[in-house]
Amino acid sequence: MTETQTFRIASIPADGVGAEVVAAGHSVLDALESASGGAYRFAWEEFPWGCGYYTKTGKMIADDGPEQLESFDAIYFGAVGWPTVPDHISLWGLRLRLCQGFDQWANVRPVNFLPGITSPLRKADSTDLDWVVVRENSEGEYAGFGGRNFAGRDGRGQIATQSAVFTEVGCDRIMRFAFELARTRAHKKVSSVTKSNAQQYGMVLWDEVFADVSRDYPDVETESVLVDAMSAKFVLRPEDLSVVVASNLNADILSDLGSALAGSLGLAASANLNPERRYPSMFEPVHGSAPDIAGQGICNPIGAIGSAALMLDHLGLHDEAKRVQRAIEATCAQGVLTRDVGGDASTETVTGAVIDNLAG
Ligand SMILES: NC(=O)c1ccc[n+]([C@@H]2O[C@H](COP(=O)([O-])OP(=O)(O)OC[C@H]3O[C@@H](n4cnc5c(N)ncnc54)[C@H](O)[C@@H]3O)[C@@H](O)[C@H]2O)c1
Repeated sequence: MTETQTFRIASIPADGVGAEVVAAGHSVLDALESASGGAYRFAWEEFPWGCGYYTKTGKMIADDGPEQLESFDAIYFGAVGWPTVPDHISLWGLRLRLCQGFDQWANVRPVNFLPGITSPLRKADSTDLDWVVVRENSEGEYAGFGGRNFAGRDGRGQIATQSAVFTEVGCDRIMRFAFELARTRAHKKVSSVTKSNAQQYGMVLWDEVFADVSRDYPDVETESVLVDAMSAKFVLRPEDLSVVVASNLNADILSDLGSALAGSLGLAASANLNPERRYPSMFEPVHGSAPDIAGQGICNPIGAIGSAALMLDHLGLHDEAKRVQRAIEATCAQGVLTRDVGGDASTETVTGAVIDNLAG
């Protein structure tokens, strides 16, 4: 008999709908494990960090939180943020602390158009659309460089600076990652996005590194597009896209646009990867904690379940990842949909349907 493979997963539901969607992804993986005949198991440990923890302790994560997480095979994350805690404290205190501390420098955000879901994009009815946003996840506009001062001046005297940081190493590695990903896709193309006409230092360096790296990938088509034009292109010529590589802020915005075009923010999955595997990678839906619908059992679990599929791929369970993705597609095609995408099913009903469809 072959030995059972064990994958240690740290789950951090955090805030709002985070708990609901992490529970959904967890039960999909439980169902896979049960059906695996003992081939593998997931050893879960849940951590209570987030805004509730902050209210009790004044911290978003335990002091030794990163050390506690270091030995896990992966982190499965919900969403962080609650109206009682300023967003910059919750985001920096937990999510960015983990992404940056674990050097999860590649954030992969697929934009998938699913059957049975109406997209606001007219072309989605007749054109085969899917693309991936690759987000530089360690520096750029979210490097955290800057400061505030002069609070003691009269009147409105405060100043604040926020500098973006672009390094050759950071640009080079995310671009090579994007090119390698493009090589695995039918449409071998990388679109680089900047605002280098207006931001003449960091983003011109980005453009130069892109040109250098692209010479090593002559089989991959390339283009450089300004972020404003790329926003229009997402809507007007999405069939032209395959891999879109952009800085931390630009890709953050573009991937929300992509998921809205696919039908809802609740659909979008994402992987924060440390490709060298020196640290655990982290898998999470793109959406936030959605305080407006939290606790009602109506949030869309598809983004989180899709993120669990990305985690399976990362753990080497490629067939299982495909099974989950196919089950998501079948569920949507059957019209089992939450209300953000025009249905009336609960989170639990959609999750149950995905589990039922795993067998298909
Ligand atoms: N990765 C993260 O943890 C992350 C990302 C974005 C925002 N946030 C935080 O989340 C909080 C709320 O932010 P926001 O309102 O700007 O963004 P949000 O993504 O939480 O919500 C935006 C809109 O999308 C809807 N939505 C989001 N997820 C959904 C789902 N699964 N199903 C159905 N509808 C869904 C919400 O109801 C809301 O109308 C803030 O504290 C913010 O800082 C966290």
